[in-house]
Amino acid sequence: MAPIRPRDSVALMEGYHSPQLDVDVRLNTNESPVAPPAAFVDALAAEVGRVQWHRYPDRAATELRTRIGELHGVGPEQVFVANGSNEVLQTLSLTYGGPGRTVAVFEPTYALHSHIAHMTGTTVAEGERAADFSLDMAEVRRVVSAAEPAITYLCSPNNPTGMVETRDTVTEVLGLVPGLLVVDEAYGQFAPWSALELVDEATPLVVTQTFSKTWSMAGARLGYLVGPSWVVAELEKVVLPYHLDALKQAAGIIAVRFRSEMEERVAQLTEERGRLEAALRELPCDVWPSGANFVLFRPQTLDGADVWAQLVERSILVRNCSSWPRLEGCLRVTIGTTDEDDRFLDALGEILT
Ligand SMILES: Cc1ncc(COP(=O)(O)O)c(C=O)c1O
Repeated sequence: MAPIRPRDSVALMEGYHSPQLDVDVRLNTNESPVAPPAAFVDALAAEVGRVQWHRYPDRAATELRTRIGELHGVGPEQVFVANGSNEVLQTLSLTYGGPGRTVAVFEPTYALHSHIAHMTGTTVAEGERAADFSLDMAEVRRVVSAAEPAITYLCSPNNPTGMVETRDTVTEVLGLVPGLLVVDEAYGQFAPWSALELVDEATPLVVTQTFSKTWSMAGARLGYLVGPSWVVAELEKVVLPYHLDALKQAAGIIAVRFRSEMEERVAQLTEERGRLEAALRELPCDVWPSGANFVLFRPQTLDGADVWAQLVERSILVRNCSSWPRLEGCLRVTIGTTDEDDRFLDALGEILT
């Protein structure tokens, strides 16, 4: 028995788990299958020698925020940057959530939205998506009017379903919520449109994005949001001083110079996603159309957990969602390189047929 107990809400918490195994083909955490360009790594290596290691970094990360803002046609005052978009989400919850406040989520969706709410003492109002995982507007109305959430989360493309919310849906939800609407676009660049086009100073909408997926930089832990400057100003009050180290700021500034390479990788992965989806449809599987760099599927002839274990035996790791509520029997596979995906498809075919 530990001598000191954490607060009850933490003691009862399960924590967030994403099991890693030592395998040949890792298709479980939606990372990019390829490294960033070699020229990026070289430029960053040169930067290491220029960092003033005995000084604190630029606390406001002004240059990085300016460069990210330029990607989206906004000024630095509309950009908040943190250690991965998870820290952006946590800062939103610390700022606009907390005891006595509620966030609304529509399940199934990214587990961290409600996990972070719990960690920050925020109540979670859980709405249900329709059977096909689309957003049910009657349910949105019900949850929003009952809970009056300070924050409402949408995830587009949604993790783990891959579904993209339409512009009409986001606009309609925006018209219903009493607080802030957060559209989590961790996979936004893989989708045909972005809610970034709805962001302006008068609208309580923020859009979060990350360098982890499309920028091939999960190891750097860098994410951001674009929103009204008055939201960004509040978040800056809450986040720890100097939370972004100097090298990370440099990494982000250098990375955005490689935008066209990033877009090329996204185009390749999107094409590969089409191939993988089509191949999955040839197998006895239910397959959900995806606007992200992963695909959700459910084997029809065998239990999902069993298929997951048989894939692991063949040194292939996908995400096992089969025991998650509403996702019984489902697995989620990240789009990998053509070789990795072929290995996955061959193994799955062997297991299922
Ligand atoms: C929907 C969604 N949001 C946010 C994140 C967190 O990304 P980051 O690496 O930027 O913290 C993920 C990571 O898998 C995700 O799936």
